[in-house]
Amino acid sequence: MKAGIFKIGFPTEIIQEGGVKVLVPKLKAFVKLPSEYAPSKAPVFYNPVMELNRDIAVLALQAYQRTLNREISVCEPLAGCGLRSIRFAREVKGVKTVVVNDINVKAFQLANYNVHMNELSERVVVKNEDANFLLGGYGAPRKRFDAIDMDPFGPPVPYLDSAIRAIRNGGLLILTATDMAPLCGVHPKACIRKYGGKPLRTEYCHELAVRLLAGSLAMTAAKHDMGINIVFSHSADHYIRIYSTLSYGAKKADENIKNMGYIIHCMKCSHREPIKGLSPVKLPRKCSECNSKIDFAGPLWLGKIFEENFCLLIEEEVKKRAYKNGKKIRKILSLIRNEVDAPVTYYVLDKICDELALPVPPLKSFIGVLRKKGFKAFPTHFNPTGVRTDASATFAKELLRTVVASREQQVLNKFKSKMEGTR
Ligand SMILES: C[S@@+](CC[C@H](N)C(=O)[O-])C[C@H]1O[C@@H](n2cnc3c(N)ncnc32)[C@H](O)[C@@H]1O
Ligand SMILES: [Zn+2]
Repeated sequence: MKAGIFKIGFPTEIIQEGGVKVLVPKLKAFVKLPSEYAPSKAPVFYNPVMELNRDIAVLALQAYQRTLNREISVCEPLAGCGLRSIRFAREVKGVKTVVVNDINVKAFQLANYNVHMNELSERVVVKNEDANFLLGGYGAPRKRFDAIDMDPFGPPVPYLDSAIRAIRNGGLLILTATDMAPLCGVHPKACIRKYGGKPLRTEYCHELAVRLLAGSLAMTAAKHDMGINIVFSHSADHYIRIYSTLSYGAKKADENIKNMGYIIHCMKCSHREPIKGLSPVKLPRKCSECNSKIDFAGPLWLGKIFEENFCLLIEEEVKKRAYKNGKKIRKILSLIRNEVDAPVTYYVLDKICDELALPVPPLKSFIGVLRKKGFKAFPTHFNPTGVRTDASATFAKELLRTVVASREQQVLNKFKSKMEGTR
């Protein structure tokens, strides 16, 4: 198949992303109103906004390949036009084969065309199956993949069992979830149904979303006597992603279950606390800070959701590439590397200041004061005004008041001395 003579029956255009060029649906041709979400209107899914997501996937896959130091096999069971897989095959050194799949026949045709256009037919196979059916065919020991990138609309949970069966011992499973309304507590019943854990509408709901997805992965892997090891995760725009290696061993699965638990949260004073263990009877009913009724999220994953070494490997990879999103990615990676060992959950300055009717001070100054007082304090990539700290909610609020008051005093003093100077 040659570029230029391909007829798919809908408007297309060639775009460049990362190190490749591919043919994609011309999104403008499919929207009638500016409010319409173009990627879901097109006959084949393509979302330019997910470039950063794909960039990080390329970098992380390269980082993972370097840890193995051998050729790897990759599968993208929900691939759309094939852009992500083509980038894996072209941009990641050591990728031996990629299996690209989509249930949509037009997506299959377009992905096939893109694979040919990029001269990758020898290493990249395109399939047109249901993702679970496809993965079912790769469950036998010698057929399994080194890495699977599962990038669905909504939750990845319908594909978890078959992806876990099709991953090699030590393989990397990458999961996207875009159903943020259930995961962030807008539709709690849907979250309990899909992920087996209760969400909460709190300021740190994006972290809860990662932990709910991770919990669902850990419990599903445990059924297969496999343990998970989350090396990286991130939240951006309207989705979350987790990157986890999986290894065989009932003991590993048992150890993982010890990382399951709950986060109790007081809606009145914002006090929160992680509680490990799966038995809900142990959960307190009243807030230890203000005695109000306490709510909870979970069961969810309370283990680590990032690994410093893996972040460093990804950071090394981004330095080697001239990505349009390079600066943004470096910022995300440096924030994540610094929050690796930080306390679970975060406060959001905007929200607390809103509640207390205070102006929002710079995050840096609040973090500096918390540290001076002997607390741990870190920014988080989850929220630009978020702070992870071991200080209690009551103390954090009191301290915030004093930070704002002392900033106001400083401004007043400056103004006074300026006035005195002009006399
Ligand atoms: C979010 S899009 C994938 C985007 C792509 N990974 C990327 O990076 O551009 C999800 C894709 O899953 C496909 N899909 C939905 N259900 C499927 C199923 N059961 N089996 C295989 N593909 C499916 C859709 O046709 C759609 O192309
Ligand atoms: Zn309370």
